[in-house]
Amino acid sequence: MDAVKAPAAAEAPARLAAWIREGLIGHEHLVERLMIALLAGGHALIEGPPGLAKTRAVRRLAEGLDLGGDSEEASGGAGGFARVQCTPDLMPSDLIGAQVFRRASEEFDFVQGPLFHSLLLVDEINRAPPKTQSALLEAMAEGQVTAGGVTRLLPDPFMVAATQNSIEHEGTFPLPEAQLDRFLLHVKLDLPGAEAERAILDLVETETRADAPAPPPLRLTSAEIRAAKAATARVHLAPPLKDYIVRLTMGARETGGGPLEGLIAHAVSPRGTLALAAAARARALLHGRGHALPEDVEALAPDALAHRLIPSWRASAEGVDSREIVARLLAHVRPY
Ligand SMILES: Nc1ncnc2c1ncn2[C@@H]1O[C@H](COP(=O)(O)OP(=O)(O)OP(=O)(O)O)[C@@H](O)[C@H]1O
Ligand SMILES: [Mg+2]
Repeated sequence: MDAVKAPAAAEAPARLAAWIREGLIGHEHLVERLMIALLAGGHALIEGPPGLAKTRAVRRLAEGLDLGGDSEEASGGAGGFARVQCTPDLMPSDLIGAQVFRRASEEFDFVQGPLFHSLLLVDEINRAPPKTQSALLEAMAEGQVTAGGVTRLLPDPFMVAATQNSIEHEGTFPLPEAQLDRFLLHVKLDLPGAEAERAILDLVETETRADAPAPPPLRLTSAEIRAAKAATARVHLAPPLKDYIVRLTMGARETGGGPLEGLIAHAVSPRGTLALAAAARARALLHGRGHALPEDVEALAPDALAHRLIPSWRASAEGVDSREIVARLLAHVRPY
């Protein structure tokens, strides 16, 4: 069967992921999720305390991509990598761009904002005001923006990696649940242990002393990313596996008895089902498989589903958060 052979397109992304991992201590999970978002055409939200290499991870991904130049042919986008630091005064036009009056031609010209890059690091997204957040999230879902009455396509690939600090500060605007849904994956990071701290110290020391950082073994171009995305979409999902994904989603809606009864206030939408399927396909490809396995679904269910459901008051009162709900769901709903 052709569909289940390891696609050739899997090799380069897997090599790139290995190189990104080399520059990070103990973030296998995060690196895999970033690659999955890229291959599945989704966006990633990275949450954790400050100083856990969130920015570093995304920058390293950017170093491994060659996004300039050829993205023009796919759409009107500029391609490339950009970073935006969110502040409470960040306006939608700071992201999208604006009409600028040109004296010479006496005409308005649209100047593209950072949103038109292929990889956009949005740091501290919860510091941006709601209006700007919603402009960003809308563009993420639709792959296009409307400005000055004209609809403009964003480049392909187009991926947003947003970060937010889990320590809540004053002056932040938490993302509304309905908008969190626009992220394919929500990755949560924890503080490293003593061994990892030591390894980080050594790694940064070596880097500071080296003349130049080791370059990536290869850089994926926009065309190669599009090819890998197409290969990801062709990864085989066997009917029982599709049923498993649906049973997970339905399990998170269960109201008539069962271990999750009364714990969920807002259930996972079909977007969650699609996200889990797409992410499982991308994980399979990264592991060199042309078919997804139950382990792909199980590994990704927490990061693909937890941010899409809202625990009930009762759950919150009992200290059961959405990650715990997904953990119980996985224990309750078995693949076969
Ligand atoms: N796991 C890790 N592997 C390698 N370097 C790390 C790791 N954790 C932290 N560092 C180092 O710690 C420093 C902080 O990293 P970085 O700026 O990427 O953190 P951050 O999560 O983006 O922080 P903030 O939330 O404040 O923006 C960098 O010098 C980085 O090299
Ligand atoms: Mg940072």
